[in-house]
Amino acid sequence: MQQLKDKVAVITGGNSGIGKATASLFAREGAQVVITGRRQDIVDEAVREIGHGAVGIVGDVAELAHHQALAETVRARFGALDVYMANAGIINLTHSKTVTPEEYDRHFATNTRGVFFGVQAIAPLIRDGGNIIVTSSLAATKVLPDHAVYAGSKAAVAAFARNWAIELKPRRIRVNILSPGPVDTAILGKLGVSEADRPAFEQQMASLIPAGRMGRPEELARAALFLASEAGSFVNGVELHVDGGMTLA
Ligand SMILES: NC(=O)c1ccc[n+]([C@@H]2O[C@H](COP(=O)([O-])OP(=O)(O)OC[C@H]3O[C@@H](n4cnc5c(N)ncnc54)[C@H](OP(=O)(O)O)[C@@H]3O)[C@@H](O)[C@H]2O)c1
Repeated sequence: MQQLKDKVAVITGGNSGIGKATASLFAREGAQVVITGRRQDIVDEAVREIGHGAVGIVGDVAELAHHQALAETVRARFGALDVYMANAGIINLTHSKTVTPEEYDRHFATNTRGVFFGVQAIAPLIRDGGNIIVTSSLAATKVLPDHAVYAGSKAAVAAFARNWAIELKPRRIRVNILSPGPVDTAILGKLGVSEADRPAFEQQMASLIPAGRMGRPEELARAALFLASEAGSFVNGVELHVDGGMTLA
């Protein structure tokens, strides 16, 4: 049986990596999927790849007007939704001593403000009994080199999610946090690590993971499906670490 049959799911940053893998799985499980991303051509390509009538909306989560426009589109086309996954995110590794105010603001505008105002705009449209998944990061709880600003931006959203789980209690909307460890996605090319240093960086990451390797987007998608579906019906306010055990290492 399809686990998200007749559900509507909106996934930000759904044109790549974890978001795209989750959108594909949700669509195969019967959901009407709406993805967002910043670039029309990449969003269109992802929509084709996901299939199953997926819809793509272009916009920047750092822009508050984007969330209002997305909410309007969802209301007009589907009336309401069941699952919102606030997943879009960026990372640029920098030691705290060299972080510029612009870099700080860029991380918080996308990873933190984008999540907060996304949920503020979309939550009224989520059907009672629906759920929200916020993509945080292992970095929010474990100290990793040069991750301070990114870690702070992701720790904040975990705190938001716990508050929302209580605020949305009257509507039985569950709110959970998905915290990936290192996962092999396009984000690895955006870390600020040079191409030449990438293999060593990835090897170093893998050596820290008890599983002995980095994660795959599909593994995060399966965890998101658990949180979004009946399988996770009594799971609320948790931070699900999907990191091959790296939290412990
Ligand atoms: N991969 C990992 O190792 C890892 C570990 C821990 C946490 N995470 C988190 O997991 C989430 C997904 O990351 P990923 O690994 O799947 O990376 P990814 O492949 O780079 O995907 C990130 C997605 O977010 C979108 N995005 C970024 N900034 C945006 C903005 N301002 N407005 C709208 N969309 C925006 C990207 O769009 P563009 O294609 O236009 O950039 C892309 O679709 C992120 O929140 C990330 O921080 C990832």
